[in-house]
Amino acid sequence: MKKIAIFASGNGSNAENIIRYFKENPQSAEVALVICNKPQAGVLYRAEKLGVPTAVITKSELNDSVFMLELLQQHSVDLIVLAGFLQMIPAFLINSYRDKIVNIHPSLLPAFGGKGMFGRNVHEAVVAAGVQETGITIHLVTEKYDDGAILFQAKTDVTHQDTPDSVETKIHSLEKEYFPQIIEKFFCK
Ligand code: GRF
Repeated sequence: MKKIAIFASGNGSNAENIIRYFKENPQSAEVALVICNKPQAGVLYRAEKLGVPTAVITKSELNDSVFMLELLQQHSVDLIVLAGFLQMIPAFLINSYRDKIVNIHPSLLPAFGGKGMFGRNVHEAVVAAGVQETGITIHLVTEKYDDGAILFQAKTDVTHQDTPDSVETKIHSLEKEYFPQIIEKFFCK
């Protein structure tokens, strides 16, 4: 049974969905810790409501290898899931958790990836570009932004009627459907 730490900065709908999924599938994994860099983020309330320990960390704590590795070891973490975490993962974490850090990106990478491409910016760029499809990418995290091995992608149509809001809704529903199961398939079997 794997122990997961979810890193998130915002609303936390993916974090909540993953926590609930593994509460229903406890033979595979347990979310042992939610780490957040924003004291007011919705993800903290969602995690606390579901009885999952949380840690709010500063940027300097995130970059402090002794602090971070101890925190993760205290909770016996063996897998890190990034779900809307808006800070750069330091190299020591990538080295210590090589091939055990997974991210979800709300587009079909390499399209709409890279600097500045997070959250709503992605959906605005997708609509502005007039592409006919978008989707989600679940990938390993390496030293290079949005560049690790792609584990899974799922697509959805973009029509002329779509707005950044409606694209976001479609993306969230793909994320809800697939993210926990892909974590289970690649890391918990
Ligand atoms: C998701 O769309 C995810 O793909 C991206 O950030 C968003 C986080 O949403 N990396 P939420 O906080 O899980 O609701």
